[in-house]
Amino acid sequence: MDLSEILKKENLSREEICFILNLTEQEDIDKLQAAALQTLYNNIGNYIYIRGLIEFSNYCTCDCIYCGIRKSNQKNERFLLTKDEILSCVEWIIEKKFASVVLQSGERRDTDFVEYVVDIVKTIKKISRNDAMPDGLGITLAVGEQSFETYQKFYEAGAHRYLLRIETSNSHLYKSLHSSQQAFEDRIKCLKYLQDIGFQIGSGVMIGLPSQTIEDLANDILFFKNMDIDMLGMGPFIPHFDTPLGVISNNFDAKNQLLLGLKMIAVARLVLKDVNIASTTALETLHSDGRIMGLQFGANVVMPQATPNKYKKNYLLYNKKPVIDEQDDAVFEKMQRDFSNIGRSIAFETWGDPIHFQRKKASSPIATPFA
Ligand code: 5AD
Repeated sequence: MDLSEILKKENLSREEICFILNLTEQEDIDKLQAAALQTLYNNIGNYIYIRGLIEFSNYCTCDCIYCGIRKSNQKNERFLLTKDEILSCVEWIIEKKFASVVLQSGERRDTDFVEYVVDIVKTIKKISRNDAMPDGLGITLAVGEQSFETYQKFYEAGAHRYLLRIETSNSHLYKSLHSSQQAFEDRIKCLKYLQDIGFQIGSGVMIGLPSQTIEDLANDILFFKNMDIDMLGMGPFIPHFDTPLGVISNNFDAKNQLLLGLKMIAVARLVLKDVNIASTTALETLHSDGRIMGLQFGANVVMPQATPNKYKKNYLLYNKKPVIDEQDDAVFEKMQRDFSNIGRSIAFETWGDPIHFQRKKASSPIATPFA
């Protein structure tokens, strides 16, 4: 296969995606990176959309064998941010003119939790409307699998984006990573519910899981295309030593994981073109410039942590997750300098909705809110 020819193609086959994911020569990686960046610029432009990320609770009813906040990890001190704590994170996000917030937590389906989320979403909408942003902050939720009715309540409260990772599109691998209560089909059903309600949907996978193959990853990319997702958040798998998968992952190679993560971002950009792709913290864990590298391989979204520092240590999904004080002005200024050094800048005071969703809606006969 000829890389330059493949990179010129409009659509890539599974075999071609595998070929790209198997690249190792620096010269080839450089070509891939340049093509991914060009695709980003052609479809979206060079702006970076920022979302303030609030990890507001680590209580979780799931027992995923890779995740540090799994129910069975008794070493993890559990927390739920109070409404005032969440709103003070939101104040910081408004002050920074980020325009979008992501509320993420462990998975709970009890009424108290659902009502709490609804109330928080409504309150954020109410307090964030101003002259510059008459529609208030854009709100993304990432609180796991819920019923259709719950998703509808979240949407009616004012959330308009939802992140729910498929983790892997290989149903056998999925089964081996999750408890028997967590069915692969349910995850897909939830993504469809969210789409039907009108949410912009985001999904993603972990990259480099033990026993995951390059074909699996190529299938993940095709899965995203097939599901017509609007947003993508993927990151390398990183062992957490208080989890069943973490203790057996002793041949972990950070350099390879990082490269594979970057190649996945690039190939996702080439295939999915106009979706929003996040450069995730997991990349930063593997390399201090990992997040910038993700942007250079085609990502266009960054989610600085707005979670209060005292809780961050209890939201460690994997080992060595950086506990950086991103509310510190010096850290924020450095981030902006890093962006400008690679010819990019932050799009302030705009929700930064995925172009993919906007195009989809423009061609759909049914009018939906949040035009
Ligand atoms: N390594 C990398 N990502 C992880 N996540 C959970 N545990 C790990 C890990 N050990 C990711 C999952 C989840 C998201 C919130 O964090 O993909 O959906």
